[in-house]
Order: sequence, then C-alpha cells, then structure tokens
Amino acid sequence: MGGIVIKNVSATFGESDKAVHALGPVDLTVEAGEFVSLVGPSGAGKTTLLRILSGGCMPASGHVSCGDRSGRGRAVVFQEDRLLPWRSVLDNVAFALEIRGVNKRTRHAEAERCLELVGIADFKQRYPHELSGGMRQRANLARAFAIEPDVLLMDEPFAALDHQTREIMQFELLAIWERTRPTVLFVTHQIDEAVYLSDRLIVLSGRPGKIKADLPVELPRPRDLAIKREPDFHALVDHVWSLLEGDLHHQAMSLSKGRDGRSSAMNDLQSDPAAEPP
Ligand SMILES: Nc1ncnc2c1ncn2[C@@H]1O[C@H](COP(=O)(O)OP(=O)(O)O)[C@@H](O)[C@H]1O
Ligand SMILES: [Mg+2]
Repeated sequence: MGGIVIKNVSATFGESDKAVHALGPVDLTVEAGEFVSLVGPSGAGKTTLLRILSGGCMPASGHVSCGDRSGRGRAVVFQEDRLLPWRSVLDNVAFALEIRGVNKRTRHAEAERCLELVGIADFKQRYPHELSGGMRQRANLARAFAIEPDVLLMDEPFAALDHQTREIMQFELLAIWERTRPTVLFVTHQIDEAVYLSDRLIVLSGRPGKIKADLPVELPRPRDLAIKREPDFHALVDHVWSLLEGDLHHQAMSLSKGRDGRSSAMNDLQSDPAAEPP
C-alpha cells in the first residue's frame, strides 16, 4: 500500500506579469491507509494539487509521489460523475478493468461486487440517464473501487448531492474505506464532512494555498452519523471554521457582494450542512 508524499510543491498558471501563483509551496505526507481531508477557500489550489497528484498537471516546483509503483494504482473521483452514457452501469464499473485487460467474466463479477458494496446492484443493467444523481455518484464510486486502488483522490465528490443523500454517501464511503483501507485525499467545502470522514484535516490558506493547519481528528472509529451531534465534533468544526474565517473575509472583500451582503466565497464554505443549497 502506498501513501502520498508532496514535497515543496507549488503551481503557477500563465506567464510573466500575467502569472497566477495558485498554490504552495506545500509539504505534506499522507500515510498509507490514512484518510486526510483538505479544506480551504475557493481558488486555494485544492483541485490543482489533486491534478498534480493524478499526473494531470506539472508542478512549478517540487515533486510528488502518489501510491506504490507496484501497487494497484490510484483512482480519482470528481464532483460530476464521469460515467459513459452509452454503457450500462455494470459496463461502466467494469471499464477500468477492461482497459487493464481483465477478462469479461472476472471483470463483470468484480463490477457486481462493487455495485453491491455501494447498494445499487439491482440497477446494473440500467444506463446512467436512468439513475438519480445519488445513484450515478454511487456508480462512480463503485467504478473507483473496482480497481481496488491503493490511493483514492476525491475532489468534492458529494457536492452535487442533496443533504440526505450526501450524509448516506459519507457513511457508506467510510464503511468501504474501513474494509479496503486505501490512502484517501479528500477535498471538500463542507467542514463537518471533512471532520466526520478524516483521520487528519489540512487547512489551506487563500491563494496561493499554503498549509495553515494540520489537525488530527481524534474521534473514535468506526463512526456513525450520530457522532455529528457530539460536543467534540462541534468543537473541531468551530475550530476549523475560525482558522478559515480570516481568509474568507479577505476573499469576501475582494469579491463582489452577494445578494445578502455575503460574498460567494463566504457561502462556499459551510459548517452547517442544513444551509447547503438545494
Ligand atoms: N488551467 C488553469 N489555467 C489558469 N489558471 C488556473 C488553471 N487551473 C486553476 N487555475 C487558477 O488557479 C487557482 C487555483 O485553482 P483551483 O485549484 O481550481 O482551486 P480550488 O480547487 O481550491 O478552488 C485559481 O485562481 C484558478 O483560477
Ligand atoms: Mg476545486
């Protein structure tokens, strides 16, 4: 099992006087099997860091290692599902195994096992357009788990889901993680989601994103959703919120004011899941 090592990584977009220093320098190690969440204001470079880790973007400085070369590989899950509309759910989940040359019988058996894991095995013959948003994201997760990744990179995977579905998905993600224990780096705007899921929280400053705090989450596991009502849980959510507040106010000043006087940056990060937009 491989962990993640990020050494002196920074990212810049554009050239000369138009260059935007988006991220870093950042140093971070995620141990094999650890679940770490990354929170920070919009534009702090969170997506950029995941893209660097997945090989989709080169850092301006530094280097990364993500998973074990001899390991099972890494999977990336984004906010929007990346299902292929012309393939059934089963064939979508089996796709990653197909391109690895796994024979049909084995890949279908493996895909079915993963669909059972996320609770949608009964829908295996359906096509993505026949599923609700929550079910599509379950299929997306099943696809990520089908390769049994040793590293899972997740970029706001539940952001498009309604509040209840999102809570169920958080619970199910933890249940699968406990069983298979990949190394996870999870980006979210929702602080309570980060606290609920993680062993450790990394708080990034506003752009260029730098690590502002590295906080252990010392809540017992396995965790059920009721833990979100515990005082220790709220204390940590409030602490993270207070760390972010300065950056959010700074961002709020430089952005146009929203309808109710709060900027979109302030609305982006929420500690209250009930305040999630529909
Ligand atoms: N391909 C790109 N070209 C130019 N600028 C980019 C590109 N990708 C990201 N940026 C800029 O880098 C900064 C960080 O972006 P991003 O990583 O998406 O932040 P986050 O995910 O934390 O909201 C932003 O200012 C964004 O506009
Ligand atoms: Mg992003």
